Formats: sequence, structure tokens, C-alpha cells
Amino acid sequence: MTEKATALTATRTQVDEAVAQAVREGLTAQPKRLPPWLFYDEAGSRLFEEITELPEYYVTRTERDILTACSGAMIAQAAQGKRVRLVELGAGSADKTRLLLAAAVELQGKVLYEPLDVSASALTEAKKRIEREIPAVTVAPRVMDYTQGLHGLEPDAAGERRLVLYIGSSIGNFDAREAGPLLERVRAGLELGDGLLLGVDLIKSEETLLAAYNDAAGVTAAFNRNMLVRLNRELGADFDLEAFSHRAIWNASESRIEMHLVSRAAQRVRLAELDLQVDFAAGESIHTENSYKYAPGAAEKMLAEAGFAPVGCWKDAQGWFAVCLGRADQDVELPGLEATEDVTLPAPDRATALDPVPPRRGNRASAAGQKQ
Ligand SMILES: C[S@@+](CC[C@H](N)C(=O)[O-])C[C@H]1O[C@@H](n2cnc3c(N)ncnc32)[C@H](O)[C@@H]1O
Repeated sequence: MTEKATALTATRTQVDEAVAQAVREGLTAQPKRLPPWLFYDEAGSRLFEEITELPEYYVTRTERDILTACSGAMIAQAAQGKRVRLVELGAGSADKTRLLLAAAVELQGKVLYEPLDVSASALTEAKKRIEREIPAVTVAPRVMDYTQGLHGLEPDAAGERRLVLYIGSSIGNFDAREAGPLLERVRAGLELGDGLLLGVDLIKSEETLLAAYNDAAGVTAAFNRNMLVRLNRELGADFDLEAFSHRAIWNASESRIEMHLVSRAAQRVRLAELDLQVDFAAGESIHTENSYKYAPGAAEKMLAEAGFAPVGCWKDAQGWFAVCLGRADQDVELPGLEATEDVTLPAPDRATALDPVPPRRGNRASAAGQKQ
């Protein structure tokens, strides 16, 4: 077994233990919950890929459009004339990441890419595909929970910059109390001058949001229910899949989509491996995911609060999604942006660059000349 293959399997037991602990905690809590990383076993990772192709799921498509138009600028901004290596939190299939990797290869030739994920199957597929399609990229995957910080990565080479990719709106799974410390832990693992590229989903019409999480083909429902399939297999549980419905709602006061599995009747579920019985009332839900949607300017603020100076933010012309770059800095000034201060440059195509982000409120409108 090669060293890299070992990295894919070494943490298997840790992942199993984490599943057991998260399920015990979540199903004995009130209200009941399960963490969204549990979606991503092999079947869940495949279902997520299907979701990204759905007509209603604008998220992946929109971010991909931005990356298609702007990857070169993002990589150049992150590199600042040096070599870059890329790390990705929750890389999944790394499908969109290939755009950034190709831009890095164009800039510097060989590139080291370290995707981190709890899904070993997704990483195995990503590594195979990327090394076949972009041979100048070396993929060094790690099966790990990125919420615990960045550790076990290849050490920095002198004169290199690390660019951490946290795209795909994954930060939206965390509420503000969790997201801030998570980004701070990432910052703590970086050197001055390293970068964080953060992809966030922006607030839009409720109709568009709800359609994306309630697709007509029922793929998101299958993705949500797959969590129960996983618990049946891995924890000897006896969830009856037909006895739980998928529900996605827009919680406007929290600015988030919530996904739930709702018990259709009063029932008792047994989880043999945990020696646990869980009672459900009719209509009681298991909260499986939050997906926060952000106001313009919120990503820059999150970056700044975690110690990254916001240096660029790229958005599609509809203002549905933003990919923002922060640079690890010593003394970061809050950009002080608010929803009403957001600006999009006139766009000849679907993506526009807003670069650099002015440090103070009010500068932005005069710099870009157009206010939304
Ligand atoms: C919504 S998918 C996004 C995949 C990809 N980044 C994209 O933009 O399409 C989330 C990915 O993050 C992984 N993931 C979720 N929580 C994680 C955690 N705490 N640590 C490591 N990986 C995680 C999942 O396994 C999944 O592959």
C-alpha cells in the first residue's frame, strides 16, 4: 500500500467512532438532529453529485460559472508571484476544483493538491480523475474532519503560498457561532500571506431557494433519507425509510434553508450497535442540515474576523453566489460592508470581479461606480 493510499484508510476507525458518537448525541438531543457530514458515505457522495446536475440546483452551476471566468485571476491574486499549493476542505469529487488546478498549472507548471474529506470514496475518485486529466497535479488526499483544524498536511516548501479552498457553500452548514471559530482554526494553520478562497451562497428569492432543496425528481429527498440507510447499515438500526419524509423549509429569520426528516407516525427505532432505542412522535423531525444564505458583504466580514484581509470577491451577474479571497494577515481591518453597500461591476459575461475590496464602507460605490 502506498503512503498516499494509507492516508485514505488510516482514519477509517476514527470516522466510525465519530459516526457513533454523533448519532448518539444527535438522536438523544431535543430537538433531534444529525450532522450533515453524515450524508457523505459512498451512496451519499454519489447522490450529491446527482444533485449538482439538477436544473433546480443553481448552486454548483453558478459557482462553476464564476470559476470558469475567474480562476486565473483568483490563482494569480493568491500566488502574488510565488508558487501556490492547494488544500481543499470537503473536496468531494473536486469537479469545479479542476478549474483552479488548471489555472495554477498554467501559472507555475507542477501543482500539489491536498483534498480533505470525510468521504474516502469521493477522494479516491477525485484523485484518479484529476491525475488522469491534469498530470501536472499531484493529489495527496486525506480522510479527515476539517472542523478539527488543518493538521497532517505536507509541510510548506520555502517560498510557497498555501491556498485553502473552501468552496461549494460548505461554510453555510455552520451557524455564526461555529463558522467563526472554524475559519479561525484554518487561519491558525496558515502562514502570513497564505490564502483562503471562500464560496458562499447569497440570499435570493424564496421560490428559487426552496426549489433547489425540493427538486422535482426527488434526488434531494433520497440524499436526505440516505442518512437513515447509512445508520441502518453501519449501526444496525431499523429505520423504516417509508416512515420518514423529506422536508426542506426556508427559515427567513435565520436566513437558512433547513432540511429535516419527519416521522410520519409515532414509532420506536432501535440502533443495535449503540444499544439505543429512540422514540419519535408523529410529525417529530430530525434536523439534518442548515444551509445559511448570506447577504452581500458577509463573506468579506467573516474572512476579516478570522484574520484574513479580503483581497477579492467574484460574483455572478445575478448576485446569487460569491467566491471571495482572503489573505492571512497580521492586522486585518473589518471591511464594514453591509447588504446595501454591495456593488457589482458591469458584466459583459456572467461573472464579474470586484477586486480589490475597499477597506471602508462607502469607498466601494465610488470605486466601482454602480450600486445594487
Ligand atoms: C456539499 S459537498 C461539496 C463538495 C465540493 N466542495 C463542491 O463544492 O461541490 C460537501 C463535501 O464536504 C465533505 N464534508 C462535510 N463535512 C466535512 C467535515 N467535517 N470534514 C471533512 N469533510 C467534510 C463531504 O463529505 C462532501 O464531500
